[in-house]
Amino acid sequence: MTPALRDRLGRELRDLRVSVTDRCNLRCTYCMPAEVFGPDYAFLPRSEILSFEEIERLARVFVRGGVRKLRLTGGEPLLRRDLPDLVARLSAIEGVEDIALTTNGLLLPKLAAPLREAGLRRVTVSLDALDPEVFGRMNGLGVSPSKVLEGIEAAALAGLPVKVNTVVQRGVNEEQLRALWTYFRGRSVLRFVEFMDVGNHNGWRMEQVVPSREVLDRLGGGFEPVDPDYRGEVAARYRDAEGHEVGLISSVTAPFCGDCTRARLSAQGALYTCLFASQGTDFRALLRSGASDEALFATLRDVWEGRRDRYSEERHEATPRQKVEMSHIGG
Ligand code: GTP
Ligand code: 5AD
Ligand code: SF4
Ligand code: SF4
Repeated sequence: MTPALRDRLGRELRDLRVSVTDRCNLRCTYCMPAEVFGPDYAFLPRSEILSFEEIERLARVFVRGGVRKLRLTGGEPLLRRDLPDLVARLSAIEGVEDIALTTNGLLLPKLAAPLREAGLRRVTVSLDALDPEVFGRMNGLGVSPSKVLEGIEAAALAGLPVKVNTVVQRGVNEEQLRALWTYFRGRSVLRFVEFMDVGNHNGWRMEQVVPSREVLDRLGGGFEPVDPDYRGEVAARYRDAEGHEVGLISSVTAPFCGDCTRARLSAQGALYTCLFASQGTDFRALLRSGASDEALFATLRDVWEGRRDRYSEERHEATPRQKVEMSHIGG
């Protein structure tokens, strides 16, 4: 195997997050607010999103560039028809060590088993509250948390390890954290995510961020830090006296750009080298104009070797600008 590509700050290319659709069956206020993503919103037509053949081909090129971990995202990835077929294609690629999925969980009762059979290794499910009223408000459609819990259950039954992500917003769900911890402690790895200024529609303000250290206090204290599983792990993990782990994703108060090995491919085939990028590199155009694997690799190498992104570390000095939508690159 060739060594991984390295960017201008010495960071290797190791992970690829692939968005497989820009659609979602929820309207979380911090991601796809219903006022913006309403009935008339123009989602991408099928012809504009990458086919499974195209995704597989690019994935092979990225693996050559150093990628070992793949994560499927959206929008909501389970809305993409025949997703298990894509997982089967990707898990057959030599060099891929891990395939995960970030989902809202609603369609897991139907899809967990076929995905697992196709080679999916694990899932991360988003759930922001256990209280039906709070969760219903946050997901924009009044969907009950029991629907997500059923999805989590189905994943566990299918043999998929589950992590749960809770995005924390001041004045919205900070009173929910303890109940979530009590419920998930000992069942799944729960991670609390600081609310981020992703995209252009969530009206982010610093006052809405609950710093991770406050989250730990709210859980009752008595936590010890746990060593990261691997360099560049997004979540900092802590363990309580009984050995139960909680993760904190602190992109705002403790940015982790220094170890960022992640590339992102949008549903329409643009490569983004940061979650907060304004522009991507159009790999779909290359694919559809008949570029060779060698040419695709050369473009990837140029982009990655030129990369200097560290938005979360620069957030305070960053001038406001258009950013790629969360629903296009899946977090
Ligand atoms: P694991 O491999 O299981 O650790 O997954 P992950 O935590 O990298 O992925 P997940 O999709 O669960 O993302 C968790 C949260 O971290 C989401 O809110 C993401 O938007 C955020 N996140 C993931 N990668 C990055 C990153 O590179 N930069 C920033 N700022 N946030 C990220
Ligand atoms: N800040 C933090 N996390 C977010 N997510 C979506 N929008 C935001 C935001 N503004 C989370 C989702 C999902 C993951 C992909 O990103 O809840 O768990
Ligand atoms: Fe959909 Fe996830 Fe965005 Fe919520 S956070 S609207 S579930 S893509
Ligand atoms: Fe990586 Fe950009 Fe996130 Fe920093 S802000 S960790 S560079 S994706």
